[in-house]
Amino acid sequence: MMRVDSFPYPFKGDVYRYSNNSVPLEEPGCVEVTTSYSSEVRLKRNLLTEHPERCFQSRSHTLKAQWEIAEMVMTHLTTYYPQQFSLERSEGEWTFHNHILEEHTTFTFGDEATLSSEPLDFIGRHVQEDLIFMMQRDGDLYMDAGQLCFPANWSLAFTIGMSFKEVHGPIPGFKEEGLDQRILTFLMRMQAGDPWVRRNWSLMAGNRLDTSLETFDEWGKGRRKVSKENVGEYVHFRVEVQKLFRLPGSNGLLFTIHTHLLPLEEFAKNHEWTNEFYHILQDLPDHIADYKGITLYKEEVVGYLNEKKVGM
Ligand code: HEM
Repeated sequence: MMRVDSFPYPFKGDVYRYSNNSVPLEEPGCVEVTTSYSSEVRLKRNLLTEHPERCFQSRSHTLKAQWEIAEMVMTHLTTYYPQQFSLERSEGEWTFHNHILEEHTTFTFGDEATLSSEPLDFIGRHVQEDLIFMMQRDGDLYMDAGQLCFPANWSLAFTIGMSFKEVHGPIPGFKEEGLDQRILTFLMRMQAGDPWVRRNWSLMAGNRLDTSLETFDEWGKGRRKVSKENVGEYVHFRVEVQKLFRLPGSNGLLFTIHTHLLPLEEFAKNHEWTNEFYHILQDLPDHIADYKGITLYKEEVVGYLNEKKVGM
């Protein structure tokens, strides 16, 4: 389980509204290896085997870009985690070593027939992140490929091929406030070598990572099980660390999503966060609470935070 001291706290200040909260990425890698690496990668691979269409989608014109992404991810893994990953290149033939899982994969770079899956699917099976490729064409960005195992209540199979604005269509107020256009303009101007990062947050009744729209009937009912007694243990704070990279070869964007869960009782060990989050929830507009799916048990969470913040 993740601990409070390594949790990516998402807020700056005690009010939360939708905005472009992206900031320049300081630490260099597009992916991060944490202590839950092995269990999460195992979970991803099981989901990919059992639900391939839910977890991987691609348009055939993305293969070249997928190789570019695979190369970037391998380069970052071997550069920032050299004990855990290494890569041998001899002319066109590459061997990627995953020393954590003791796996060694030899393939011809650029020839997907030499891999057991498409390049994005292959490299996604070695990282904890979900990996989305946004292709830039016709003056817009389109979700043309992705490997997605841990979505926060959305569907890749439904979204594949959509434009940036279409993808963000369900978010209340996003279009009306012109946020979708502002963010799209920002993304279209992104340059290679200048990556960005943002933290998106939500609450989750339970501790499932694979909260796809397709399985809502399995995990959504957890929201009705939250009580005053179990709230600290059962409800989890959910943060997605989302990184954005311009890909110089294809001119598309790589969007990586690393999902972290922390039980509320662990979160509450940080009194400053507890106090701030209490104010944020109290002030949160109903349409945002509804969209994030926390309305049903918001009262229990506010009550719990109120108790925990006493003494500030
Ligand atoms: C280009 C890469 C991006 C992709 C592929 C992407 C994808 C998505 C998806 C699939 C959703 C869920 C929509 C649904 O309910 O069906 C979402 C939500 C959202 N996105 Fe993005 N997004 C991207 C970039 C951004 C950026 C740069 C921002 C900057 C502000 C942003 C802000 C949001 C917000 C605020 C939500 C609502 C989340 C919530 O309330 O929990 N997205 N995005």
